[in-house]
Amino acid sequence: MKKITIIANWKMSLSLHESIQLAEDVERGLPPLPASLRVFLCPSFTALPSVQPLLRQCLLGAQDVFWENRGAYTGEIAPSMLTDLGCHAVILGHSERRAYCGETSLMVHRKVQTALANNLTPIVCVGETAEERDRGQKEHVVIEQLTSALSGIDEKKEQDIFVVYEPVWAIGNGHVVAPEDAEQMHQLILHTLREMYSPAYLDAHVQVLYGGSVDRRSVGPLISMPHVGGCLVGTASWHAHNFLSIIDAALRI
Ligand code: PGA
Repeated sequence: MKKITIIANWKMSLSLHESIQLAEDVERGLPPLPASLRVFLCPSFTALPSVQPLLRQCLLGAQDVFWENRGAYTGEIAPSMLTDLGCHAVILGHSERRAYCGETSLMVHRKVQTALANNLTPIVCVGETAEERDRGQKEHVVIEQLTSALSGIDEKKEQDIFVVYEPVWAIGNGHVVAPEDAEQMHQLILHTLREMYSPAYLDAHVQVLYGGSVDRRSVGPLISMPHVGGCLVGTASWHAHNFLSIIDAALRI
């Protein structure tokens, strides 16, 4: 059976009360999940402690982490603060952070290293903007983001990693890429990773997901593609009904 991962990114879109309600509704609505399907919920930092005890089948993730373990970094969150709250994974290098918070490839690289050192699974987002796509640079941009984020990983430690291909122009606006185009980019990502890591490590520990306006209609065709290992879902994960329909579609693959 194909291994599939679905990640809900709640962004800065829900109050504490709404986050609790959504976590409860999702858990209540889920059928028993097979081991081949993993579901992560990534609430905002302030909702993590309240959402964690509600989770039965879903795993907890955060939306960012700082690259140092401790110290005078006002406003930042250390990896151990996330693991203390029961987080298993953390989204890194999301295009919204690159665009609005000035996050660079070097910062993303350092965050990946620190996350791994603290046993947090990195969910590393890569993807081109509309301008980069129109200039014919999408492959170049994705390869640069990927290689700088994921260089220097000690594969002997056998830690899991998610890479999410998220074309920036497809995020939050209903413009999903064609499944064949996603598949092509996923093949390029895997080809690039094969030049960095062994096939055995990649097969066992690295999954490449798609993100950008995924909803209940687009999820099936996307994850039916051979190299699309699941999805990162923003907007359609903020209502239990929509998100549960996505899980339902994933269960039918
Ligand atoms: P979206 O968000 O599903 O609303 O496009 C995806 C994301 O930003 O990760």
